[in-house]
Amino acid sequence: MTLPSHGSNPHYLYEALEIEMPESVLDFSANINPLGPPLRIKEQWSGFFEGILQYPDPHAIELTKSIAKKEALPEQSVLMGNGGAEIIMLVANGLANQRVLIIQPAFAEYAEACLAAGCKVDFHQLDAPGWQLDLERLIPRLPEYDAIFLCTPNNPTGVSFKRDTVRELIIECQKANCLVVLDEAFYDFTEDAFSYASLINAFPHLLILRSMTKIFAIPGLRLGYLLASPDIIKRVRNYKPHWSVNHVALEVGKICLAEDAYMRKTRDYIVWQKQKLFRFYEEQGLDVSDSTVNFYLVKDESLSLFPFLLKKGIVPRHTYNFPGLDGRWLRFAVKSEHDNEALMEGVRQWRKQGSVL
Ligand SMILES: Cc1ncc(COP(=O)(O)O)c(C=O)c1O
Repeated sequence: MTLPSHGSNPHYLYEALEIEMPESVLDFSANINPLGPPLRIKEQWSGFFEGILQYPDPHAIELTKSIAKKEALPEQSVLMGNGGAEIIMLVANGLANQRVLIIQPAFAEYAEACLAAGCKVDFHQLDAPGWQLDLERLIPRLPEYDAIFLCTPNNPTGVSFKRDTVRELIIECQKANCLVVLDEAFYDFTEDAFSYASLINAFPHLLILRSMTKIFAIPGLRLGYLLASPDIIKRVRNYKPHWSVNHVALEVGKICLAEDAYMRKTRDYIVWQKQKLFRFYEEQGLDVSDSTVNFYLVKDESLSLFPFLLKKGIVPRHTYNFPGLDGRWLRFAVKSEHDNEALMEGVRQWRKQGSVL
């Protein structure tokens, strides 16, 4: 049995487990903004039609300029991509045949992309249940590598690493002549939307990867970008297909950049829903990860909660392909109040039927 290595598209999961998929399901396996895309996208949608008659701007000039301005970086420090996933692939290609260290648990795509690019890939395992960085063990390893990957806030745990520790790691990597690839795909879901992007000017070995698909709920459209020194951007750009970001995504991206109020509303909503959820899990005696974002882990040592919920049409993200988690934790997105209530009811029923923790 091979389980899907990503969330979303739940029919693949039901097929793999040979569980009949209920007619309607609530999918908690993809970490998308529960408020849905900003309204202005829908309002302006028909206006994007004319643009598809031409090739999109291969340099995404307007969006690149706006992002550069927002991040106080030069335009040459921004590269737009077809989702964060394309950026990961481009960075991996830029690292072809080099030695890479991935700090895990982490998004599976780093290893897949780096292996496809012929890199030698090793892992540095963080310990449950805190999953914090342990520099005493990590720093001595750095000289052996050309690049490290770190996802912060982390997917799948939702944990944000201590800021001073990440800064120290960036400094140590510079000393060891090792690139740092920080994946900030979820930074804008944290309460203060903290980012390390301001360090790029001072640290030319730092690459920051961003996704716009999660916070703006446009995973089907695909948009992401890389922030790095102009030299690195130039190198990585060589691997990018010329028109990989389509016209509609570019137009939608411009709308999204002006959506500050929507982002604040999103963060408030996530905080509110997480408070209710975490209070519930505590009452039920269940362990959860110390999440700072729009998803979290719940411990399922018995491995029974996963099939129980699936049969009820509630789809968690399994963690069998995250070493160290090994299916014993389940990841859930923070969804709408209605959906979160349904999840809590499902868990309540599982506990009632005598589940062993
Ligand atoms: C940590 C992380 N980085 C990057 C991505 C890629 O996101 P996208 O390609 O949808 O922008 C994902 C998607 O799930 C992710 O979880």
